[in-house]
Amino acid sequence: MARLLEFTLNGRPRADAVPDNLLLLDYLREVVGLTGTKTGCDGGECGACTVLLDDRPRLSCLTLAAAVAGHRVDTVESLANDGRLSAVQRGFHEKLGAQCGYCTPGFIMASAGLLRRNPRPSDDEIREALGSNICRCTGYVKIIEAVKHAAALHAGGLAP
Ligand code: FES
Ligand code: FES
Repeated sequence: MARLLEFTLNGRPRADAVPDNLLLLDYLREVVGLTGTKTGCDGGECGACTVLLDDRPRLSCLTLAAAVAGHRVDTVESLANDGRLSAVQRGFHEKLGAQCGYCTPGFIMASAGLLRRNPRPSDDEIREALGSNICRCTGYVKIIEAVKHAAALHAGGLAP
C-alpha cells in the first residue's frame, strides 16, 4: 500500500506518495536525494542516520516515512544558510570534531537539536545528548569541544 505523505522538510512543504513500509532514511536518501543523512548500522545502534523531528533527534533508520506526516523534519542539509555554516557545523570544523566524517551528520543533528532545546549545555548534558551516536575515529574529546564551541557561537547569535 502507498499513501500520500505531507510534511515539512527542511522548512519547505513536501508531498510524495510513499509505500507504507518505506523507512524515513531511505525516503530521504533515495526519493528526495538528500544523502547527508548516513546509513551506518541500519539497526538503531550508531546514530549516523539522526535527523530532527520537530526539533528532537530521531533515528531515521527506525522511523517509517509515513510516520512523519504533519511534522517537521530537518536534515543536515538544512543547517547552512546562504553558504554560511551553522554554529554546530562551524564548531565541528573549527575544533576538528570530524575525522573520516561518516558519523558527523548524525552528531551534528543531535547537537543542533540539543542547542535548540538547551543553548548552554553542560559537558554532562552534551555527553547525554550524544549518547546514541557512535564515532570510530575521534575518541569523542574533540566532539565535546566542538559542541561547546558551537554553544558559544550560538550565544553570539549564530543559529545552531
Ligand atoms: S543507521 Fe540508524 S542508528 Fe545506525
Ligand atoms: S569521524 Fe569517523 S566515525 Fe566519526
